[in-house]
Amino acid sequence: MSTLATKRLGTNVGAEVLGVEVDQLLADDALPAACMEALEEHGALVFRELHIDDETQIAFSKKLDDVGKPEPAEPPKIYLVTLDPKKNPSAEYLKGTFAWHLDGAQDDVPTKATMLSAHAIAAIGGDTEFASTYAAFDDLTDEAKERLGRLRILHTFEASQRLVNPDPSPEELARWHEKPDKEHPLVWRHRSGRRSLVIGASASHVVGMDMDEGRALLDDLLVRATAQDRVYRHEWTVGDMVIWDNTGVLHRACPYDPNSSREMHRTTMSGDEPIQ
Ligand SMILES: [Fe+2]
Repeated sequence: MSTLATKRLGTNVGAEVLGVEVDQLLADDALPAACMEALEEHGALVFRELHIDDETQIAFSKKLDDVGKPEPAEPPKIYLVTLDPKKNPSAEYLKGTFAWHLDGAQDDVPTKATMLSAHAIAAIGGDTEFASTYAAFDDLTDEAKERLGRLRILHTFEASQRLVNPDPSPEELARWHEKPDKEHPLVWRHRSGRRSLVIGASASHVVGMDMDEGRALLDDLLVRATAQDRVYRHEWTVGDMVIWDNTGVLHRACPYDPNSSREMHRTTMSGDEPIQ
């Protein structure tokens, strides 16, 4: 297989992968590169009702991770996405994922891609939404591209947590500050030549700009990037697997009951490109 058969799902982001069976994931040597190519084009790929087990998810994620890298990647670990603190001790922080974000925005090199497989879904809510920050950049005027290309943004854990916990205790604040802040350019110039916006929940403020003015700018960019007609919203069925390009796509979970049994198994493909 050299190219994937896909069906577009959203205007700017999202495509369903057609005709790939679970047995193919590890047996078809051409599939990983074809997937990464389709991911670059569509931003998010949906494989419906594959019902992969953890072992297959880890092995397939590693194959995707190895595409185009000089050294083989470490096999990823399964991370449980659930609001049940008995299954995930950081469940409380996961409420931060109800806001638009990219994974690892405070890292030097954010993850390249993220994979989720649905093991249990919420009765109400719990969809996952995706929005392209490549498209958000492309939509800007030439003047705005030029102006925004000179700005830098400070990303903090506090900024994303304040969206769900606006009145933290001193202890909570101290815990949030354990994770170091990170400054990135607002516009990411990718090796591919494409450009995307690095925005979302972790974006605290524009460096060197009046606070309110900077906040207004960041809020405006986020609202435009995530306008309903620009978003692909995935309504999960148990067994679905979705992969997205974490470098050019924002995502968020739609709120759901914390007592819900919703359980996603997440793996990540390591990044090899700093935001620059
Ligand atoms: Fe996330």
